[in-house]
Amino acid sequence: CGRQVGRPLRQRLLVVANRLPVSAVRKGEESWSLEISAGGLVSALLGVKEFEARWIGWAGVNVPDEVGQRALTKALAEKRCIPVFLDEEIVHQYYNGYCNNILWPLFHYLGLPQEDRLATTRSFQSQFAAYKKANQMFADVVNEHYEDGDVVWCHDYHLMFLPKCLKDYNIKMKVGWFLHTPFPSSEIHRTLPSRSELLRSVLAADLVGFHTYDYARHFVSACTRILGLEGTPEGVEDQGKMTRVAAFPIGIDSDRFIRALEVPQVQEHIKELTERFSGRKVMLGVDRLDMIKGIPQKILAFEKFLEENQYWRDKVVLLQIAVPTRTDVPEYQKLTSQVHEIVGRINGRFGTLTAVPIHHLDRSLDFHALCALYAVTDVALVTSLRDGMNLVSYEFVACQDSKKGVLILSEFAGAAQSLGAGALLVNPWNITEVASSIGQALNMTSEEREKRHRHNFLHVTNHTAQEWAETFVSELNDTVVEAQLRTRQ
Ligand code: G6P
Repeated sequence: CGRQVGRPLRQRLLVVANRLPVSAVRKGEESWSLEISAGGLVSALLGVKEFEARWIGWAGVNVPDEVGQRALTKALAEKRCIPVFLDEEIVHQYYNGYCNNILWPLFHYLGLPQEDRLATTRSFQSQFAAYKKANQMFADVVNEHYEDGDVVWCHDYHLMFLPKCLKDYNIKMKVGWFLHTPFPSSEIHRTLPSRSELLRSVLAADLVGFHTYDYARHFVSACTRILGLEGTPEGVEDQGKMTRVAAFPIGIDSDRFIRALEVPQVQEHIKELTERFSGRKVMLGVDRLDMIKGIPQKILAFEKFLEENQYWRDKVVLLQIAVPTRTDVPEYQKLTSQVHEIVGRINGRFGTLTAVPIHHLDRSLDFHALCALYAVTDVALVTSLRDGMNLVSYEFVACQDSKKGVLILSEFAGAAQSLGAGALLVNPWNITEVASSIGQALNMTSEEREKRHRHNFLHVTNHTAQEWAETFVSELNDTVVEAQLRTRQ
C-alpha cells in the first residue's frame, strides 16, 4: 500500500504498550534513573525512527506519591514517554495475574492455570476486572494526549481491551492493534472464559496485525467460530464494519548492531572473549528467563550432546544469558530454581578443575557486551517452545557477518518462517533431535555456513523494524480512509 499524496512525512504516532522502552528506578524523592527495558517489543520499536512518536505505558514501578509522579513524568518527557501510573494491587491482578499468569501461557499453548496457580493471584473474575480497569486507565491517558490526525498504535496482549475503550472515546480515532506473541489456534482461545469479550474489543480497532500469516488465520477463525462473524481475505466483518487483519513480520534495527561491532569498546570485548574461550567453540543462548523459551529443554539437549560426544567435552562451552523477568509470578520463580538445579548437575558431571561446560548468567548484558558475545558465537541456540517472532535470532545474524556462525532455531518461533532456510530448524521438545543438530552445527563446513548465513543476513538487513512500522502505519492510514469512503457511499 503506497503512502497518500500530501500526507505529512512525520506523522504523530502514539505508541501504547504496557511497558515503556525505559524502566524507572527511584534514586531520591524527586530523582529517577531510566534504564532500557528488556523484551522483543522494546527492541523492535527502538528501531522505529520515521514518526513523531510518543510512548504511553507503565514505567515498571509503583509511584504512590504525587511528588514522585510529577518528577518521573518530567524525566520521561525528555524521552518522549508518557507514564500510566498503576498501583500495586492493579499490577498484581492485571500484570502478574491476568496478563502473565493467564493470557501469556495460553497464547503460548501452555494452557490455562490450574486451581493452585489461580489461587495465588485470586480469582479469574477479579483479574479480568483489573485487566479491564487497567486498559481503561491507558485509554484515559491516550485520550488526554490525543490530537486530531494522530495514529494510535496499541501493542500486545496486555491491551486487548484498549481498542474498544479508545473507540468509545472517539470513533474517528485511527486505532491499530498488534500482537507480539503467537495467537493460538481457535480451539485454544475457546478455553478462555472471557474469549468473546476480548475478541470483540480487539475488533473495534481499524487494523489488527500479527507476526505471521498463521497467527492472523487463527485470529480470524476464532472470530468466525466463537463470535459467528464472517471472515474474508481482508479480515473480519461485523454488521458492515470491516476490521482489517493481516500479517506484518517484525524486524530489528540491523544497522545499529552492525555499527556497534566497529566501536572500540566492542572490539576490545571481542578480543577478550576470543582469548578467554580460545580452543573451544562457543554456543550461546540469550533469553528472558521464561518458560516459553525452553531453557531447561535446551540445557538437557546440550547435556545429551556431551554425553554422546566425548570428543567435544572440553572443546565446547555453552553461555546461557537468562534475563530475569516477571519475578513476582510463582511460575517464574520455580523455573529459576529448576534451571539452576540442571545447570549445577551438568557442570558437576562434565566440569573439570579448570573449566565448566555451561556458564549460566541470571542477568542482562549491556548492548555492547551483548553485540560482542553475538559476534564471537559459533552456534546460537534459540529453542523456544513457542515464540511470537524471537528477535534474538535476528540480532545474532546481524552480528555474524565475519564469523558466519550457525543458528539452531525452534520451528515454533515465528522467526522460523523467515530464517528457516538459513537456520537448522528443530522441535525443541525433541531433545535427541536438538542434540544431533548441535553436532551438525559444530561440524558444518564453512561453505555451508556461508550459504546459510547469507540467506539470513539478507533477510535481517532487508526487513527492518523501520520497514515493519512504516508498513503497518501506512496500512492503518489507508484502512481508515477506505472505511470513511465506504460510509460515504
Ligand atoms: C514479550 C512481550 C512484551 C514484553 C516483554 C518483556 O516480548 O511481548 O510485551 O514487554 O516480553 O516482558 P515484561 O513482562 O517484562 O514486559
